[in-house]
Amino acid sequence: MDEHSLEAFAQEKIAEGRKLFFRAAMEAPDEYMTDQERKLPQPPLCKAPMADNALDLPKDFSSLTIDSDFLHVINSRKSHRVYTDGSISLLQLSYLLWCTQGVKSVRGRAYATLRTVPGGGARHPFECYLAIRRVEGLESGLYHYLPMTHQLERIGNPDGMEDWIGRSLEGQRWAGKASVVFYYSCVFYRAEWRYGIWTHPTVLIDSGHVTENLYLAATSISLGGCAIAAVDGAEANRAFGLDGQEETIFYAMPVGTVRPEDEEKEDAFYAFVRQEGL
Ligand SMILES: Cc1cc2nc3c(=O)[nH]c(=O)nc-3n(C[C@H](O)[C@H](O)[C@H](O)COP(=O)(O)O)c2cc1C
Repeated sequence: MDEHSLEAFAQEKIAEGRKLFFRAAMEAPDEYMTDQERKLPQPPLCKAPMADNALDLPKDFSSLTIDSDFLHVINSRKSHRVYTDGSISLLQLSYLLWCTQGVKSVRGRAYATLRTVPGGGARHPFECYLAIRRVEGLESGLYHYLPMTHQLERIGNPDGMEDWIGRSLEGQRWAGKASVVFYYSCVFYRAEWRYGIWTHPTVLIDSGHVTENLYLAATSISLGGCAIAAVDGAEANRAFGLDGQEETIFYAMPVGTVRPEDEEKEDAFYAFVRQEGL
């Protein structure tokens, strides 16, 4: 592509991206109705189990050491990309899942779930998958969270988990050292049924609530993680058995055990700031 076409390509893509911020750009003909308005059947609130090996997660968090100083948690939150070889406990994992996608109640006759995170129209179109390397009491492998019953199911085991994690995160190999990597998918129609053409900005906004809760929950139990948008969706979808059309992985977060001595290694991720004199 010549320089001129390349610039035109970039400007077109940027303009497309910016449209997500303007509701006016999503104006519809007066007669447009969403599927909910057309009284089409509502899709399920959650994905059905994918295997038949669901494991109940512990939900009594009283034995966990949780930093309850809210401001301290807020001020200590940061992205961690260096993890030790430590394992996390099943209770810690359960706590992280609860704090990010836990279902507190169901409204109506299965009309909506109310969860530990807010969500536009309470649609909660996300599914949470895990690549587990070191969680006490769990075999390493790929898992799917069942939020309605607060259970985990094991759905696979890629060869060479550590390398696979790096590949699925566009070469961010450091993430392969985490105890567990959270992968989030969007099941589009769960939200599109209600919001139609206005769905997609809301869903992207909502995903930030999930990972921010994950950052804060991890911080509150002295674990560290890092949100990751650079996800190889095709690679992750293949491993978790998703079609990439109706449901696709689009966001991830490795979480692991961390220690203050690794602060300097963490700084290496910002070396470009020094090198470039920014
Ligand atoms: C939406 C989003 C995507 C991100 N993607 C990546 C990523 O792919 N790789 C990475 O190393 N950090 C990623 N980060 C982490 C940011 O670089 C980090 O939040 C930022 O540098 C500020 O640092 P702090 O989180 O320690 O405050 C992402 C953060 C967010 C919120």
